[in-house]
Amino acid sequence: MKKSKRRGSAAQGRETEALAPVRDDTPTIQWFPGHMKKAQRLVEENLKLVDVVIELLDARIPLSSANPMLAEIIQDKPRVVALNKADLADAERTRAWVAYFRSQGIAAVAVDASRGRGVKQLVQQVTELARPRTEKFVKAGGRPRAARCMILGIPNVGKSSLINRLAGAAITKTADKPGVTRAKQWIKIGQGLDLLDTPGILWPKFEDKQVGLKLAFTGAVNDDIYDLEQVTILLLEILRHDYAPRLVERFKLTGELPATGAELLEAIGRKRGCLVRGGLVDTDKAMHIVMTEFRAGKLGQVTLDEIPQTGATDTADGEG
Ligand code: G4P
Repeated sequence: MKKSKRRGSAAQGRETEALAPVRDDTPTIQWFPGHMKKAQRLVEENLKLVDVVIELLDARIPLSSANPMLAEIIQDKPRVVALNKADLADAERTRAWVAYFRSQGIAAVAVDASRGRGVKQLVQQVTELARPRTEKFVKAGGRPRAARCMILGIPNVGKSSLINRLAGAAITKTADKPGVTRAKQWIKIGQGLDLLDTPGILWPKFEDKQVGLKLAFTGAVNDDIYDLEQVTILLLEILRHDYAPRLVERFKLTGELPATGAELLEAIGRKRGCLVRGGLVDTDKAMHIVMTEFRAGKLGQVTLDEIPQTGATDTADGEG
């Protein structure tokens, strides 16, 4: 648990190229094997009860917010990807991500669980995907029944918010309490669809350091877990690469943009008057400004994961 210290300049003694490789000393997010096994077992138990899985991803980081074993866990269960927090993501890139998933044979919808955008479309997709299964059930002599679905996703991706939104009322809290068992309850969504009120909580691909840092950008993991300076510098490098005009505008940067994330942080600190004695930049303060403003959407809608150029990904090799 390394916390950043106040120091003169983040740029001192550091060589950072654009999109520098992540240092190897980054601590990993702690999800112990026991927790992972338990989470997987709970999900597998509930999977038996449903026709369709809603895989909830963060639209800003559709790859980094995916569980690495999802396809293996859900096997041939139909799934629809819901790209949540679309209000915070780059709309053009979200459209490209939706198209990408569809090109992989996976149903996908952009959603804003906070405001309900895309939720109707999501329900339609789920119902459609479930139909072959409910029809098969009737053909086999069963009584017509509602389709059943559940939501799966990593912590903080918006599972509870989506459940609340689908339920139409705040009947579940917007905070996870892992380990607290509740009786299984179904939420009726319209005529033909029931939603399991307990979401499946899965772990992210935390063995990948870059993924961990992106989760930190979005606030999905506690800031104490990562070196905030490292997180901020990488964020600035990605923003410099993909959204340079926004950085210039937000922080009123003039002249040529500094070449590295560390230098950018210093320039931002100077612009915002984060100075300590001797005219050095208070990096700590500058970091907090960058992260707080980024997370508050002050740098605009941003997507930090790029669509894979070739081949399938972990999240995109299942059926849709
Ligand atoms: P989880 O069950 O998957 O752990 O996530 P949860 O619903 O608790 O949501 C995590 C945070 O993400 C919450 O913010 C929630 O409001 C926010 N959120 C969920 N969906 C969306 C969305 O589509 N757009 C935006 N902008 N935010 C979303 P919080 O700050 O932790 O809590 P609070 O401010 O809602 O109290």
